[in-house]
Amino acid sequence: MHQDLACGRPPQQSVIRIGHDAVDAVRQALMSRPAGGPVAIVADQAVVALAGRIGHGLQGLGIDARLCTMVAEERTKSFETVGSLAAQLLAHGVTRAGVVIAVGGGIVGDTAGFLAATYMRGLRCIQVPTTLLAMVDAAIGGKTAVNVVLRDGSLAKNAVGAFAMPELVVCDPATLVTLPPREMQCGLAECVKHALLADAGLAEWLAANAMAVVGKDTAAIAGLVARAAAVKVAIVDRDPTEQGERALLNLGHTYAHAIEARHDDRIKHGEAVAIGLVAAMTVASRLGRVRHAQVESLQALLERVGLPTRLQDLVPSPDSAATLRRCMELDKKRAGKGLVLVLPEGPVGSGLVEAPPEEAVMAGWSAVGAA
Ligand SMILES: NC(=O)c1ccc[n+]([C@@H]2O[C@H](COP(=O)([O-])OP(=O)(O)OC[C@H]3O[C@@H](n4cnc5c(N)ncnc54)[C@H](O)[C@@H]3O)[C@@H](O)[C@H]2O)c1
Repeated sequence: MHQDLACGRPPQQSVIRIGHDAVDAVRQALMSRPAGGPVAIVADQAVVALAGRIGHGLQGLGIDARLCTMVAEERTKSFETVGSLAAQLLAHGVTRAGVVIAVGGGIVGDTAGFLAATYMRGLRCIQVPTTLLAMVDAAIGGKTAVNVVLRDGSLAKNAVGAFAMPELVVCDPATLVTLPPREMQCGLAECVKHALLADAGLAEWLAANAMAVVGKDTAAIAGLVARAAAVKVAIVDRDPTEQGERALLNLGHTYAHAIEARHDDRIKHGEAVAIGLVAAMTVASRLGRVRHAQVESLQALLERVGLPTRLQDLVPSPDSAATLRRCMELDKKRAGKGLVLVLPEGPVGSGLVEAPPEEAVMAGWSAVGAA
């Protein structure tokens, strides 16, 4: 039994298929809408066995499926990787009538999605997310991007990208069987974000069921993916190209991207988001948008699901608050207006705040342990 969610509007519309066998779902997609010529499977090296099974499934239909692998690291989510993959697609004879099938977490999804958006000015894309984080967030909604390394070695996260909706996103809980617990917990961070944005009951569900999810209970994972994905789908449907409301999905991310800019070697994206949520909630509390008790209950929920709430949980000597504050300027949401933060408001929900008081911004850094 699987569940389908529709995301976006035609011609930029995805089907999100939850709880369906990944090999079969990709086969069915290419049977119902055949590709012209070879298709490319761009896969994380960590899930090459799954990618191979998807390839065999397609070859059984007489489809020329070519496997290209990449290493999933923030520093390989890059132009260099996209260039190397494009050269492989050209060598394999993939044309505009082909399809890119991304098999991996958010790093492969963002990189292969950007390749699909730009190779020969765009071709079809199918996403097969293999991390919880990618199932509930990264693979949904058609945002693709690569990072850029700055002259001082910092990472400008998602500095170059494109909107391009995948036609299908297959969320098969069985693909998570090899995912380490720490990565499962990273996915829970984006679920907590979705709970804060629009689904208060989801926070309670997570407090009660997170351990079943981390323990790879298939039914719990499918239920969570459907519920958390629905929050994102509703927002993307109302604002597909981030003219307004979609920016709220960046809750916690201005702090998270600054953390990742400096500490991508020790802190994973989901962990940076968890710490960023605490910082944003602290700022919101300073500005009287939420009760102080909400900061404490957020910290308690994150700790309960095994996520960090302070930089020191993962980095012995984190950068100074001043350095991290400077990195926030890199964030593309700055949009020429000074700093813009997404901040929680009320028991559930959030809004954009332009030029928040500097004292409150620094209180956010202090709350997560930056001196
Ligand atoms: N496009 C969007 O809207 C969007 C939204 C949220 C996050 N993101 C991006 O997503 C990225 C983070 O994604 P992620 O957390 O999935 O990280 P990831 O892709 O790095 O995967 C995490 C780790 O798990 C490994 N892995 C993946 N699937 C596995 C499996 N099934 N078994 C064993 N190991 C596996 C990977 O090799 C990697 O080491 C960030 O770059 C972030 O910016 C994008």
